[in-house]
Amino acid sequence: MIRSETRERVARVRFDRLDKKNAITAAMYAQLGAALAAADADAQVRAVLLQGSAECFTAGNDVADFLDVPREPGNSPARALFEVLPRMMKPVVAAVGGPAVGIGTTMLLHCDLVYAAPNARFQLPFVPLGIVPEFGSTLLLPLLAGYQRAAKLLLLGQPFSAEEAFQAGIVTAVVSNVIEEAEKAAAALAALPPESIRLTKRLMKARYAEALGSAIDEETRLFTERLSSPEAKEAMSAFLQKRKPDFSRF
Ligand code: COA
Repeated sequence: MIRSETRERVARVRFDRLDKKNAITAAMYAQLGAALAAADADAQVRAVLLQGSAECFTAGNDVADFLDVPREPGNSPARALFEVLPRMMKPVVAAVGGPAVGIGTTMLLHCDLVYAAPNARFQLPFVPLGIVPEFGSTLLLPLLAGYQRAAKLLLLGQPFSAEEAFQAGIVTAVVSNVIEEAEKAAAALAALPPESIRLTKRLMKARYAEALGSAIDEETRLFTERLSSPEAKEAMSAFLQKRKPDFSRF
């Protein structure tokens, strides 16, 4: 589940499903979208801190949900997050320790400051899962990291370190006390002039807002189509059955 509490003008929004590595279910997307929207609308809140635990950020979308939850073309439970996070007016700081997989990495592309612990482990395993990347990552990652670096991360889909995420521009800084450092950054943002922060964010994001909306729509359409493909079914069943997938017959 998603937990949310506000202290000293910082809303802390936290993944709390450690037994499943904070994997995000359809219900959790709804809670996450609602918690972020509430923080953005709350006049008492000046900054948002998005976190898991120091050992695990999130293993991304719940893989069992991918197989079980029926989807209409172009629709996704993650829409609740897609609609809110990129449009947030308040600054969002992320604290990443341990795994940040799939949407656990792509959501960081929409945060303002991203702190990663040395144990952070990122991965964009959309291709290995037989699907396509989501949340605007096919637009934002090449912009951020350059095409070749983005292609390595998105096509091979292998795990990468905090240092590599820093080199790719996904991470602001690699720090050992990740939650503490992210809290300090959120407190610093909370003490700055809020209107100036809001306008600066808007100016930076307005440049690609329209292209981002189109990218998210197109990715979501292909993503939902691919979920019912034999390749994706084989990849996801293999993960849940703890075996290696076999793509030789496709
Ligand atoms: N969806 C559903 N369940 C998940 C999950 C996910 N995304 N990630 C982890 N889990 C579950 C595991 O099935 C396992 O459940 P079990 O205890 O009932 O068997 C439990 O969480 C612990 O995971 P485990 O794989 O044993 O932990 P680990 O420390 O060895 O590895 C990860 C952690 C994150 C590297 C690994 O779990 C992983 O690769 N997860 C899948 C990530 C993924 O593909 N996400 C979708 C991206 S689009």
